[in-house]
Amino acid sequence: MIKALSYVVVETPHLEAWMEQAEKHIGLQVEVVEAGRCVRLRADEKFQRLLVTRTEGQASMGMGFELDNAEQLQTIRQRLEEAGYATTEGTAEELALRGVAGMIHFRDPDGVRLEVCHGLADAATPFVPGRPLGGFRTGDMGIGHVALITEHFDELSHLYRNIFGFRVSDHTQAPFRVEFLHCNPRHHTMGLAHTGGPAKIYHLMLEYNDFDDLGRAYDMALEKPESIGVTLGRHINDHTTSFYLKNPDGWMFELGWASRTIGPNWQVEELQGMSLWGHDRTWLPDHKREEARQILKRLAAQGVRAPVVTNSQTAKASQ
Ligand SMILES: [Fe+2]
Repeated sequence: MIKALSYVVVETPHLEAWMEQAEKHIGLQVEVVEAGRCVRLRADEKFQRLLVTRTEGQASMGMGFELDNAEQLQTIRQRLEEAGYATTEGTAEELALRGVAGMIHFRDPDGVRLEVCHGLADAATPFVPGRPLGGFRTGDMGIGHVALITEHFDELSHLYRNIFGFRVSDHTQAPFRVEFLHCNPRHHTMGLAHTGGPAKIYHLMLEYNDFDDLGRAYDMALEKPESIGVTLGRHINDHTTSFYLKNPDGWMFELGWASRTIGPNWQVEELQGMSLWGHDRTWLPDHKREEARQILKRLAAQGVRAPVVTNSQTAKASQ
């Protein structure tokens, strides 16, 4: 029923730093809604893809999922209420800020704000990236994917699969329980992990159309090595080449390229690891980093490789 993750809502005590990173480093377009208080970040022709508001309190991040029309919104609202979630209708001001035709919101079992909407509008002006680049891969696949660490794995998995209508892409039990879920051709739109630690937002993946734009983002991050949460590498499941950039609130952007798409005949897989190479998680304790290195060495010894499949390049070969 949910067709895409269409936008993200952020409340941050670090609005200026968010604007700087979004525009100069990632290459998003910043549109000021109210100076010093609220900005819309654009990644494509849509009205907004991130709505970032200043708060004096704790940083937070919520997600806006889209479905086709008002009837579906009513259906999903009823399903949520039946499952015990208290939903609230978006106000006229909230709809206008987001550029959506209708919206409800509620809290997931970890307290993350979830919005369900329909009718995300196009912007009145063309997308102008914050730095020269070939754009982001969005469209029917939505803004990208989000990975969460949850304290309520079963409840969250139930919410996404049985109420939102996501399907399982793949999963693993070791070193902790992770489930990847899709709702469109993007290999996964959600990743749910139960690590035993407290619930938190792990990352939001944004996908560049062009490999060189990812490489330039990595060059910029190398100037501030402490900003790199996970080094350049390639994921074993969605085949994304990426690195992870810490944002001003401490959770991360995964900046990626050439994510795999999947179709209706997809078979659920048990994963042998998280990455084919690279992706050193600088924030992990030493023994976990070493465990990850051993997995990479095993995959390398087995010669496990994956094709690069993308039709998203905007740069043209010279004639
Ligand atoms: Fe990811």
